[in-house]
Amino acid sequence: MPRIRIGVIGLGGIAGAVHLPGIEKCPDFELAAICDIDREKLDRVGERYRIDPAMRFTAYRDLIARGGVDAVDICTPNDCHVEIAMEAANAGKHYSVEKPLAMNAGEARALAARTQEKGVKSMVCFSYRFKSAARYARYLVQSGVLGELYHVYTQYFQSWGNPDLNVPLVWRFVKAKTGSGALGDLGSHALDLVRFVSGRDYTRIVGDADTLLKERPLPDDGGTGVSDVDDYCHYLARMEGGLSAAFEITRFGFGRGNYQRLEIYGRKGGLVYKLDEHPGMDELEICTGQPWGQLNTFVKVPVPTSYAANQTQCFADIIRGKADGLAATVEDGLANQNAVDAVIDSFEHQRWVSL
Ligand SMILES: NC(=O)c1ccc[n+]([C@@H]2O[C@H](COP(=O)([O-])OP(=O)(O)OC[C@H]3O[C@@H](n4cnc5c(N)ncnc54)[C@H](O)[C@@H]3O)[C@@H](O)[C@H]2O)c1
Repeated sequence: MPRIRIGVIGLGGIAGAVHLPGIEKCPDFELAAICDIDREKLDRVGERYRIDPAMRFTAYRDLIARGGVDAVDICTPNDCHVEIAMEAANAGKHYSVEKPLAMNAGEARALAARTQEKGVKSMVCFSYRFKSAARYARYLVQSGVLGELYHVYTQYFQSWGNPDLNVPLVWRFVKAKTGSGALGDLGSHALDLVRFVSGRDYTRIVGDADTLLKERPLPDDGGTGVSDVDDYCHYLARMEGGLSAAFEITRFGFGRGNYQRLEIYGRKGGLVYKLDEHPGMDELEICTGQPWGQLNTFVKVPVPTSYAANQTQCFADIIRGKADGLAATVEDGLANQNAVDAVIDSFEHQRWVSL
């Protein structure tokens, strides 16, 4: 079967750490074209991956229009995800796009409609869906091991917002480029993970959020600029069936690299999913049997190797029509964006918001 020719758009942190090496290792893909507005970065990546100079682009429209690619992989900042994915869909190209899908639900809805109309395949990179512990947790929860579900408690902490780290005013702190701060960056993952594991949609949300550090150094000229997005957000959600979920999300979690914890309690059991930053391993613990707590009643569950998954391979499988249905599509991205928008509406207007 011929390999799928893919073009990667946006060659920054996540492309370099995950997407480009993933494509290089995946037998179903051929890295056929690359694009970045930064010429120097474009050529550096082009040399590293031996991309024909004619297939290196500084404008994504040229990459899509040039031909020679069957699919695109969008790794730019959030403000251009939808415009690039729209262009790809209009040209009949499948696309994978980083999270959060869009700047708002209106954009996401328009993209979902266009994707369906054009019949192209989509994937939104909610990458924690590919952690085997998350997949196994989903299986255990949805096959009823915990019984009737009561509560979900989710934490997602990073520390890089801390003023002493002096992180400059990159796009992640500018609402016009990112949509929201810790919410879109980390909270969108948490919202997706809870929806993925529980299999339920959100029905209403109330949240609190704030900007702790309102000025940050500008990347270039030594002055400062205004950060206008949330540094943390805490929210409560009701889900289908009355399930109650609580979320704690921050970029100011001192000492935390990429700390995630999801606890689910039901009538017949409790389950804990953990992603520990050192060394980035995902794990599950479970407690079943008697409901009253005693020390050490949660035991580590070995996750079957059959639950291992790979994000890049899943995109290839989606395009080839043989996917397992567990990766997020544009429809999941839209559901996620609806929830993100509801959190923003809630903290801006200090009220519960129905979905
Ligand atoms: N799934 C995850 O866990 C995860 C982790 C990190 C980042 N992300 C997402 O990935 C995306 C990129 O994040 P990053 O950390 O790589 O950012 P980054 O700033 O390191 O890289 C973005 C790159 O896009 C380029 N770019 C900007 N506008 C462009 C355009 N119009 N056309 C082509 N190139 C353009 C920039 O020059 C830069 O090289 C964001 O949406 C972010 O939320 C997801």
